[in-house]
Amino acid sequence: MNIETILSNASVIPVIEIPNLDVVSELVAALTGGGLKVIELTLRTDCALEALSTMKAQAPDLFIGMGTILSEDDVEKSIDAGADFLVTPGASLSLLAALKSAGRPALPGVATVSEAITAIDAGFNALKFFPAEASGGLPVLKAIHAVMPNVSFCPTGGIDAKKATDYLALPNVPCVGGSWIAPKNLIANQDWNAIEHNAKIASALK
Ligand code: 3PG
Repeated sequence: MNIETILSNASVIPVIEIPNLDVVSELVAALTGGGLKVIELTLRTDCALEALSTMKAQAPDLFIGMGTILSEDDVEKSIDAGADFLVTPGASLSLLAALKSAGRPALPGVATVSEAITAIDAGFNALKFFPAEASGGLPVLKAIHAVMPNVSFCPTGGIDAKKATDYLALPNVPCVGGSWIAPKNLIANQDWNAIEHNAKIASALK
């Protein structure tokens, strides 16, 4: 499995912060019931690693990435938990090397052309563009496509369902990421119907 295959299975990757393990089962049911095949958990809560393992056991066919990876230690812990792919918000040379040697599909984060060149040099040609909207959004990705047409981006940060359509129309954007499908408030309220509804809309986007 490579990162291109994972990205081709998703127009939208929901970025999800898990508050506790009690929500995992119904959350996975809502996301997969809405037709999603790829999701990203953030390594921002204490239960994130255990949540990933629990989700993989419940839905083995769901591709689950671990995001917010900041260090080599995070890379190792995420692989041990069973992450199908690894996502970072940015990247140092040592983090890029750790992702490469981990041998797991990975989406290193970049926000500038120079950062993209550094990641390409390290052997990556699919990158997370983060924070997408705050970093210039669509016009930046259009300009980057002109100089590096073979590099794909998953823009994330400040994107909603409406903006997602505009990003997905770009030739260098196979998918977008965002928290709007399963935001913290809907998870806290255990509003699984709303999450499944958002997932259906997201999985229908092209
Ligand atoms: C991420 O971790 O990728 C972002 O926090 C998601 O950004 P959003 O909440 O603006 O969608």
